[in-house]
Amino acid sequence: MASTMRMGISSLLSLATLLLISNTSVVLSDRCHRTDESALLAIKASVNIRQPSWTPGTNCCNWVGVQCNNTFGRVTFVYIDPSGRSGTIPSAVGDLPFLQTFMIRHHGGLTGQIPPAIGRLTQLTWLQLDHNSLTGPIPPSVFLLPNINYLDFTHNHLTGTIPPVIPANTPLTYLYLYNNHLTGTIPDSLGRTNIKTFYLSNNNLTGPLPASFANAKFQLLDLSSNPLTGDASLLFGAKKPLTSLLLSRNRLDFDLTNIVFPEGLQNLDLSHNKIYGSIPKQIAQLNFDGPTSFNVSYNKLCGKIPTGGLMGQFDQFVYIQNKCLCGSPLPPCRA
Ligand SMILES: *[C@@H]1O[C@H](CO)[C@@H](O)[C@H](O)[C@H]1NC(C)=O
Ligand SMILES: *[C@@H]1O[C@H](CO)[C@@H](O)[C@H](O)[C@H]1NC(C)=O
Ligand SMILES: *[C@@H]1O[C@H](CO)[C@@H](O)[C@H](O)[C@H]1NC(C)=O
Repeated sequence: MASTMRMGISSLLSLATLLLISNTSVVLSDRCHRTDESALLAIKASVNIRQPSWTPGTNCCNWVGVQCNNTFGRVTFVYIDPSGRSGTIPSAVGDLPFLQTFMIRHHGGLTGQIPPAIGRLTQLTWLQLDHNSLTGPIPPSVFLLPNINYLDFTHNHLTGTIPPVIPANTPLTYLYLYNNHLTGTIPDSLGRTNIKTFYLSNNNLTGPLPASFANAKFQLLDLSSNPLTGDASLLFGAKKPLTSLLLSRNRLDFDLTNIVFPEGLQNLDLSHNKIYGSIPKQIAQLNFDGPTSFNVSYNKLCGKIPTGGLMGQFDQFVYIQNKCLCGSPLPPCRA
């Protein structure tokens, strides 16, 4: 009897232990990691997130715009599209050590600087802070992130220079910096990376293109509307991977006559520069993307406009305001 009792008690005890353990595990999987939760709540307060699901004490892995790694219960993904009042990005974003994707768009409302603490996010592959009103410099630490693949800071009010130290082996592939107020020269280190898409238009970048751009891997390059000067011929060459090259509204000054266009080039805008010489005949072999995919207007070009291939689709406005271009669709050349 007593032994049965003892057995009963010990079974009860182990049952209670089991319950305790399972209860603990329920608590663990029901709540995200506490440091992740506090980092998200700091972001919520600073950015003014109105999303009702972002409630303390609930599992933050289920909050709208948040995803976790199920194995570890750690936050890997944050996409915030806050509405309402303006706010700033807090340094607490650096306290999400498993974060891979961070996107925050406030349609002009977010002010303040990009916190350098983002440089602590060693798992980060995707950082998208476009269409805000962020000011100040680009923190050099974002270019040192060991897993970064996609950086988008477009449509902000960023100032200062592009940080010069960008490791040649960075996994960065997409770099979008257009529509800011960046100044200084384009760092030489950028041309030694494997960046394929680089948009820098509408900034205040000065000086010549870096020499490293001669061997860069760009497929889409947009440097339009900057006061860049000098020779851009180093960007050209039959085997270059460029498909889209947009250089309009700079102060580029070089001879186009002996340029060899990249074989895969589909978009070329050289308008509003100081480019001289003639248009190489090889241009007629390019597979242009459509009637708005070519423009050499407002330069200092001269000579007969090449014909053949897809050249017939372009009207006179892609050639206007040059020194002495002639032939269809402009008036005939004088013999
Ligand atoms: C969770 O993280 C581990 C370690 O980084 C990784 O191996 C695993 O694929 C991740 N799981 C998910 C669902 O992302
Ligand atoms: C470039 O600088 C000029 C002169 O300071 C300024 O007027 C202009 O707004 C700037 N443009 C951009 C895109 O920052
Ligand atoms: C070429 O550029 C000129 C000057 O900016 C513009 O007027 C014209 O519409 C452009 N043409 C095309 C086809 O983009």
